[in-house]
Amino acid sequence: MHSFQDLIALFEKQFSQWHFPGTPASLYEPAGYILGIGGKRIRPVLTLMGNELFDELHPDAFQVGNAVELFHNFTLIHDDIMDKAPLRRGMPTVHTKYNDSTALLAGDVMLIYVYQFLNKVQPRYQQRLTAVFNKAAIEVCEGQQLDMDFEKMDPGQVQYADYVHMIGLKTSVLLAASLQLGAIIGGGSEGNQAHLYEFGKNVGIAFQIQDDYLDAFGDPEKFGKQVGGDILVNKKTFLLLKALEFCNPAQREELRRLLDYTGDDKVGRTLQVFRDCKVDAWAEKEKERYTQLAFDHLEAIAVVSGRKHPLTEVADFLLHRQH
Ligand code: IPE
Ligand code: IPE
Ligand code: MG
Ligand code: MG
Ligand code: MG
Repeated sequence: MHSFQDLIALFEKQFSQWHFPGTPASLYEPAGYILGIGGKRIRPVLTLMGNELFDELHPDAFQVGNAVELFHNFTLIHDDIMDKAPLRRGMPTVHTKYNDSTALLAGDVMLIYVYQFLNKVQPRYQQRLTAVFNKAAIEVCEGQQLDMDFEKMDPGQVQYADYVHMIGLKTSVLLAASLQLGAIIGGGSEGNQAHLYEFGKNVGIAFQIQDDYLDAFGDPEKFGKQVGGDILVNKKTFLLLKALEFCNPAQREELRRLLDYTGDDKVGRTLQVFRDCKVDAWAEKEKERYTQLAFDHLEAIAVVSGRKHPLTEVADFLLHRQH
């Protein structure tokens, strides 16, 4: 059995040796660029962990890991266009460094490579793997659209439950599916797969809560993305929804005004209200709540508890990460 760190190293070793074709460089260089500037490689590592929870690591888990990491990077390129994000992993986003059309196409071609990797696995698993992967991929698109729909809506029209539903789709299902794909390769029973999926789903909610927290309060040096980006595009994150719930009438008025405001101090003033309403402290509790739900499912998986250790390591890392 391997530790979280061992699995990152094992995955990265083979992933970094794989390259897109050389030409046309105007397409493949941007695609290679996003893969080359880092990333935590969490999703493929989850696939390897899902496999190793039930059996020895199988080469197919690496092929599926390559697929999920490529899919994730495809979503990031397109997400950065949607979110008007200038920075990713501490570097210019693909559409900023190149242009929107190239970024769209680099993302598209990556998605096709995803299916090339999925096609390499043993035929006996292929149908089940593709079904789990496709379901998650469709849900990511649904979540991304809801995220953008909410940007345009009045905060009064978006409930906290809607936010949780949206982040479940755009973020958690891919983490959950990454684990389940590994479990399929490892021969985990359907019941164990279901608990592993729910573990990933709940960790994923806490992971996106942390992402939204860092988008507001992260250290720009460590975070690697533009701090305040969600505020600039009026994302209906838990920070805004909960601030509106916890604040007094004057603060509520200020927050509502700030949504229509585009001055340079929009981010700073919004952050001040978030701080005054103590949504940062609330987020800690909420992450813990989802982590507990996740651990209840982990507990229910019928394998000896020692084998679950890497999963507790990765959950702990994701919820306390600074980038
Ligand atoms: C970023 O995911 C997108 C979200 C779902 C929040 P990661 O934080 O896993 O991004 P990288 O791959 O490590 O850069
Ligand atoms: C991203 O959510 C979800 C997907 C990329 C599918 P965010 O928009 O919060 O992710 P970051 O913060 O840009 O990484
Ligand atoms: Mg987004
Ligand atoms: Mg984004
Ligand atoms: Mg974010």
